[in-house]
Amino acid sequence: MSNAARVLPATEVFEHFLEPRQGFLKVVEPRESGSIGLKEWVTANKPELRADLTRHGGLLLRNFANKTADFQAAMEGLFGSENLIESYAGGMSRRNKVSEKTFVSTLFPRVGGLPQHFEMSYLRTWPLFISFYCEQPSPYGGNTPISYGRGLLKNLDKKLLGKFDQEGVCYLRAYKNQAYQGVFPTWQEAFESSDPAAAEKFCRANGFEFHWTAERDFKTVNVSQGTVHHPQTREKLFFNHALTSSFYSGNKKILSPSFEGLSSALKPEVVEEVCAMAIDEVPYGAAWGKSRKPIELSVQQDLRAAFYDNMVSFAWKKGDMLILDNLLVAHGRDPFIGERSILTVMAHSHSERA
Ligand SMILES: [Fe+2]
Repeated sequence: MSNAARVLPATEVFEHFLEPRQGFLKVVEPRESGSIGLKEWVTANKPELRADLTRHGGLLLRNFANKTADFQAAMEGLFGSENLIESYAGGMSRRNKVSEKTFVSTLFPRVGGLPQHFEMSYLRTWPLFISFYCEQPSPYGGNTPISYGRGLLKNLDKKLLGKFDQEGVCYLRAYKNQAYQGVFPTWQEAFESSDPAAAEKFCRANGFEFHWTAERDFKTVNVSQGTVHHPQTREKLFFNHALTSSFYSGNKKILSPSFEGLSSALKPEVVEEVCAMAIDEVPYGAAWGKSRKPIELSVQQDLRAAFYDNMVSFAWKKGDMLILDNLLVAHGRDPFIGERSILTVMAHSHSERA
């Protein structure tokens, strides 16, 4: 009888996990670096990859043969061209298009960090999937840390989760024309038009209250979900933008966790000014959906801790493609120095509204 180890069938790729204990985020690499075309492989393995996204939250495809144009093509192969999202209207970040359905991930200043968030979860319609492509990694920093939503459920207090489920989250936004330009989107950038009527049309279609101030600034208020049901697994998930959207701490001497990460991108006098603002004056404010009372600082701190406990991070490598199930995985951005180019494509616009 032979003592030789059982030989597994040869496969063209090998797989591992960023967080093996929870089976969170599968990393796939060709056994021979650069030996397999990204878009061809993604398209050929579509059913398995779609199942992996639901099972593991996301995929990091590394060391495939690809150039930038293959990114959108791979997303078309995986989700179908008709399901890629062309518009970012109503978005929180400043973002440019590089092609019809490919965006620069964010134009937010490099010295600022973006807290963990589920893409566009402040709306009632959001992408089921978001993908990132590393065209150019920064020489220092600039990771895209990710957090597992299934783990988050174990960390968060059940009563708090119930409150998010029952109340939802109210988002208050004040679009400024001047002082914050370059950091936060103006209303023209946010609604992808310089026509006030287009901004108003978007607001009406998406259930936003809105009004123009005497200074021609634009203010909006909208209530969205605190939790969602995953369309495939039906599991209930924490899904909102309460952490990232809370610039209001209720204490002029304490920065909210979200504003703390972003404040380094602003002049000290602007930081002081924002700290002194009421919740309906800050660029981004988050309140409870029913009571309309500000999300408490202690809740913001609990949310940040829960995200940290379920976070993994990796250094970008040129040509990496990261695909996330947007309901299962939150993402953020670390500050960085030097040049960095991360592109994004979103897929499958979805809503729980009847
Ligand atoms: Fe994002």
